[in-house]
Amino acid sequence: MINKIASAQNQKIKQIIKLKKSLKRKKAELFVIEGEKEIKLAKESGIYIKELFFLENIYQKEIDNFFNIEKYILTAEVFDKISFRKSPDGYFAIAQIKDFQLKNIKLNSSMEIMDLGAGTGLLSYFIAPFVKKIAAVDNSPSMLIEFKKRCGEFACETEIIEKDFNSEVLERKFDGIISSMTIHHLEDISSLLSRLYKMLNKDGFMAIADLDSEDGSFHSSNRGVFHYGFNRKDLKMLAIEAGFREVRFDLANTINKPNGNFTVFLMTAIK
Ligand SMILES: C[S@@+](CC[C@H](N)C(=O)[O-])C[C@H]1O[C@@H](n2cnc3c(N)ncnc32)[C@H](O)[C@@H]1O
Repeated sequence: MINKIASAQNQKIKQIIKLKKSLKRKKAELFVIEGEKEIKLAKESGIYIKELFFLENIYQKEIDNFFNIEKYILTAEVFDKISFRKSPDGYFAIAQIKDFQLKNIKLNSSMEIMDLGAGTGLLSYFIAPFVKKIAAVDNSPSMLIEFKKRCGEFACETEIIEKDFNSEVLERKFDGIISSMTIHHLEDISSLLSRLYKMLNKDGFMAIADLDSEDGSFHSSNRGVFHYGFNRKDLKMLAIEAGFREVRFDLANTINKPNGNFTVFLMTAIK
């Protein structure tokens, strides 16, 4: 069902504006996801999206088919009232904080997590409602500036750490380490996995998503790319050698490009 809202005095809009306060969001067990990419990713990851809101000029039939849930089309003035962002793309969703599993990893609200190669925070963003804190680690200052701009939207505490994981060490411990599409930029995977192992608390988890082996055509330029994806068996061996147990692989995603389809795995493991 699609509803149109043209007034900021609408009850639903008033309720959403209240959700701008993080305490209200926690109490209502709801969180906000903004941005087309983020909403699609959250949906694909099994997060329960309750309601969707679109700016009237960007509403697309494709989205209508994608989500079989309550949708609202908003005028620009109303959308502006609910949006957290300085330059919103016109997509906004309300999602429910339920128990969320990252495949076989259970997240909880006392966990401190590191997101390795956090970039602009796409992965951190929808892990945030389920954990206490996320430390975003990246070697790119410009990525971290983008991450920082979005910190207000995050449903947990955040910390930003500029580090080059190819050459620097981070003397910290976390309950979990997550990473998406980053480790193919890191040269020595054996050393990386040993370092990640040391950085985890006892029974801590690692959840790493990256490309399965590819022919080198995924990136338009392979500058800074050390691995054309990974062979799952070889990566599993390296993780076990680093000390990890319960090393498992799932298919996380398939990226369709004009030159081919590229699968992305999610490797999970426990210290
Ligand atoms: C493809 S992006 C992925 C960003 C984010 N995780 C996501 O899924 O949207 C790869 C990220 O890894 C970071 N990165 C590359 N090499 C790195 C290194 N040596 N140390 C830390 N971060 C690195 C890049 O700056 C970039 O933000």
